[in-house]
Amino acid sequence: MSGFPKDFIWGAACASYQCEGGWDADGKGANIWDDFCHEIEGHHIFDGTSGDTACDSYHRFREDVALMKAHNIRAYRFSVSWARVIPQGTGPVNEAGLAYYDALIDELLANGIEPMVTLYHWDLPSALQDRGGWLNREIVDAFANYAELLAKRFKGRVTKFMTINEPQCIAQLGYGSGEHAPGLKLGEEKVAQVFHHLCLAHSAAYRAIKAACGKDVQVGAVSCGRLCYPQKDTPENREAAYRASFQLMEKNWAFTFSIFLDPLCLRRYDESAPEAVRRFAATIDPADWDLMEKPDFIGINVYQGYMVDESGAPVELYPGFPRTAIKWAVTPKVMHYGPLNVIRRYGLPVYISENGVSCNDRVHLDGKVHDPNRIDFLHRYLLELRKAVDEGADVRGYLHWSFLDNFEWSQGYTERFGLVYVDYRTCERVPKDSARWYAEVSANNGTNL
Ligand code: NOJ
Repeated sequence: MSGFPKDFIWGAACASYQCEGGWDADGKGANIWDDFCHEIEGHHIFDGTSGDTACDSYHRFREDVALMKAHNIRAYRFSVSWARVIPQGTGPVNEAGLAYYDALIDELLANGIEPMVTLYHWDLPSALQDRGGWLNREIVDAFANYAELLAKRFKGRVTKFMTINEPQCIAQLGYGSGEHAPGLKLGEEKVAQVFHHLCLAHSAAYRAIKAACGKDVQVGAVSCGRLCYPQKDTPENREAAYRASFQLMEKNWAFTFSIFLDPLCLRRYDESAPEAVRRFAATIDPADWDLMEKPDFIGINVYQGYMVDESGAPVELYPGFPRTAIKWAVTPKVMHYGPLNVIRRYGLPVYISENGVSCNDRVHLDGKVHDPNRIDFLHRYLLELRKAVDEGADVRGYLHWSFLDNFEWSQGYTERFGLVYVDYRTCERVPKDSARWYAEVSANNGTNL
């Protein structure tokens, strides 16, 4: 057993809309999540809330960074709110917005924490949505200009960028099922078109960042999707899990790694593409394929995996199977086979850009937040991740989702994913037991697992 490499990064992640608040502070423009949450008629958010204040990290980031340092967080993956820095999505820049991210980055660096910057974690400026959002190809240039602005500004301080987070949710939940902003319910071909524009936008941003910062800056893309793991650890079953992971199923093809990463890395759609994707693909200008840029690394967001048998067929979970508060299955093995399979298909290093668990956390009588379920979950998933590393998987870091409890999209504040509890009445932060446990894992580079 070799264990985690010496320079493995133990960090945490969050996203602008989920933690910042300050929704209209200092010249920020509106974005689609502001609109989606404020639109009471639609009742889009389970508890009727919004990210208007969230964790108020816009004002409390110094306290957050101090807590990160106290808990041995070595890297912080955060996203930039596009409308905070370019209120209309294109055109005039909001200096106060950029100054906020400058201050956050400087505070992280002063505390020995590496900033890892996601450009787009779902909060599109409303002005761009008014022009069709991700359905309008003009967004590709707008995104590249935004990327160039950030790259030039953060040059020398940020060396890892991630272009787009989970295109699967942007396209399917935003334009297909309508569960997420902008809440559209369109057909599969439109969803495929959104994916195509996301791929082109990633690629244009990739080139813009490299042009501004040089080759040494790494530019990744972050994906989620159905990752399968074998019921039995046999070569045949492993192979079946690999195939099932990347197959575009007739239903639910949007929630796969292949729909985003095959175009970028292999410059094609998987042969298993369903009818709707093939129909859309036939309309793509062949020159577009030459525009696709393979990222330097892949961020994998891992929560629950899917068990398959030796034929690749799904194995039903037994009654009472362990589940998290949000009802996702607890499947640690996905952390062993998932990274191995993503690396096998795309040949790129990976970061676990998100992994975590929602629990019914509360402050106990002793004033502390005891969360043994989160510690057990993490322990199990990290032991499996170590198996992947021991088998040679090039995994460079693990970014826990999330550092703070935060706004969980259409679930509002009902799901708590943080290592640190947030009392939303006061924004008081209370580190949970898991924060102290994770601090030890980081300090020992996982040897204490
Ligand atoms: C993935 C998303 O990137 C993040 O925003 C979300 O909060 C977590 N999953 C948990 O659902």
